[in-house]
Formats: sequence, structure tokens, C-alpha cells
Amino acid sequence: MRAMVIKAYGGPMSLEERPRPTPGPEQVLVRVIAASVNPVDWKMASGALRLFIPVKFPWVPGYDIAGEVAGVGAGVTAFSVGMRVHARIAESTAGGSAEYAVAGVDAVAEIPAGMDPGEAAGLPLAGMTALQGLRDRTMLPMTGARERVLIVGASGGVGHLAVQIARASGATVVGVCSGRNAALGASLGAHEVIDYTQPDPYGGQAPFDVVYDCVAGDPGPFLPLLTPKGRYASCVPAPATFLRALWNPFVGKSVLPVMLKSNAADLRVLDTLVEAGKLRVVVDSRFPLEALGEAWARSKSGRAAGKIVIEVA
Ligand SMILES: NC(=O)c1ccc[n+]([C@@H]2O[C@H](COP(=O)([O-])OP(=O)(O)OC[C@H]3O[C@@H](n4cnc5c(N)ncnc54)[C@H](OP(=O)(O)O)[C@@H]3O)[C@@H](O)[C@H]2O)c1
Repeated sequence: MRAMVIKAYGGPMSLEERPRPTPGPEQVLVRVIAASVNPVDWKMASGALRLFIPVKFPWVPGYDIAGEVAGVGAGVTAFSVGMRVHARIAESTAGGSAEYAVAGVDAVAEIPAGMDPGEAAGLPLAGMTALQGLRDRTMLPMTGARERVLIVGASGGVGHLAVQIARASGATVVGVCSGRNAALGASLGAHEVIDYTQPDPYGGQAPFDVVYDCVAGDPGPFLPLLTPKGRYASCVPAPATFLRALWNPFVGKSVLPVMLKSNAADLRVLDTLVEAGKLRVVVDSRFPLEALGEAWARSKSGRAAGKIVIEVA
């Protein structure tokens, strides 16, 4: 099979012929139709995360896939050959930038009927990070939420899904993005959109019950904007988030790091929202497998609006 392979931290990426992986017990083999890029892919490849998530080389990067089941390992009963599935592959292996990849059944869900494979590939990692950050860390109720929620990075891979999940919960949603993405933020359901490039962007907008920061991980500017028992969560694992989670000068306010825990149950929660018409994946751009390097350059630019998709088949 064709796969994009990296052999060392900071090393080049090349398209190579590799053996097709074999599904082990409780795993499915997926013929990958589309994959999606996440910043963690190129952060891991650079070596920046080697202390936390070491890479075993040669490495086929890529965590998000959508495609068709091409084989199943021992003990798999819920999936059969031909089913359309998507998944966030296990952290220890990755392997999504290839024509075939294996994923544990605990990470796989059926793609909602009619969903484009590229959009389906864009959902798992970013969608679960959005969902878990809001539901499990800030404890935003998923129905009947009466809270005022600020999503920082409302046009990004995680943020554009967080806006929609917060909106579906019933919250009042304020999205933060640059002016060029304001129409996108509104189309996702944000009640108000703040342009962070303007002077004093938060003037007159506070207080917020919840701030979900998908850009920077520095709670400093946001803690004063929270209600007395407000919660700040960030999926960007910056030292400031972890330090302020241990102690912050604003008694009663919480600082909450978000670390994704992949699981099929949460992917199905997202799929249910897609089926209900409450969640959609916006595609920033599409690249063929051999142009993965260009796709990463787009991601590194920090300007992607929605998800970057790799068309594998
Ligand atoms: N902890 C976890 O488990 C976990 C999981 C997933 C992702 N992450 C991390 O979360 C971060 C976001 O990931 P992502 O996939 O959403 O990234 P992304 O798609 O690359 O984010 C790009 C978006 O950020 C916006 N942006 C940049 N600077 C901004 C600012 N100052 N204020 C508001 N928006 C701004 C850009 O909009 P403009 O072009 O309009 O500026 C662009 O739309 C990454 O650092 C990633 O590694 C962590």
C-alpha cells in the first residue's frame, strides 16, 4: 500500500510502498478514503512532544481516518467488511496517512448516512476534543444550558466544532476569530462574533460562565472575564494552563486543561449531532496523500478555517 513515511524527528516525509497492516484482536482494518490533519501530527514529527508522546520510527503519521472496513481481527462482532466507518487511531500507532490503517474497535464508529468521507475524517479528534472540553471539563450541560460561553479560535478545527456543540447545548455562544472568519462563526451558530484583531476586543462582552480556549492556553487575559464561579478550559497544553490549574489568584474560578481521551461512545455522540443537523465539519482545504507536506504547511500557518482533509482514495 502507499503510505507517507517519516524516519526521524525533523526528517523529510516520503511516499513509500509499505506492507498492509493486519488487524489484531479487537481491531478493524480500514481502507482509508480520507484522513485529516491535526496540529499534533506535525508537532510530534518535529520532536516537540517527544517527552510526552515519543514516536517510534519509521512512522506513518495521521490519527483521523474515514473509509471502509476491509477486514476485522479476532473478537470483532460490531463491524464487518464494507461498513463505512471513521475513527481516531490510537496515539501509540497513528498510521492514518496510508491506504490502509488499523484502529481498535473502541475508537471506531459508523459514518452517518450521507456524510462526505472527508468531513467524516475531520470529525473524530477535533470533535471529541471540543465535546470533552465543554462537557467533561467545564461541565457545560449538553441540554438546557443557560450559560454564556466564549469559544476562542471559533474558526479552527476544534473551535468550529465547539461553537456548534455549545450552541446545540442551549448556551449563548460568543465566538472569537479574525474578521475574515466572522461570517463563518455566525453561520456555525455563534450568537455574537468577536474579532480578536480589533483593539479591546472583549470590552463590554464579559462576563462569561465558560471560556474554551482553542488557541493559546494562557488563562491570564480570560480569568477577569469570567463570572465568580466561571470556568476556563484550554486544549492547548501550555505550561500556564497547568500552573494556573494548580493555583490561580481568582478564588472560585477554575482553570482546566483538556486532554483528549478517544472513545467510540463520544464519536457516536458527535455522529448523532451530525444526523440531527446540529453539527457539520467545515473543510478548509483538500490535498492528495502525496501532498501531505503541503497540508501540514497549511496547518502550521495557523490560518486554517475548519479541517484540512487528505484525500487518500
Ligand atoms: N489537548 C488536546 O487533546 C488537543 C486536541 C486537539 C487539538 N489540540 C491543540 O489545540 C490547538 C487548536 O487545534 P486546531 O486543530 O483547532 O487548530 P487549527 O485548526 O490550526 O486553528 C487554526 C485557527 O485558529 C484561529 N486563530 C489563530 N489565532 C487566533 C487568535 N488569537 N484568536 C482566535 N482565533 C485564532 C485561526 O483563525 P484566523 O485565521 O482567523 O486567525 C484559524 O482558524 C492546537 O494547538 C492543537 O495542537 C489539543
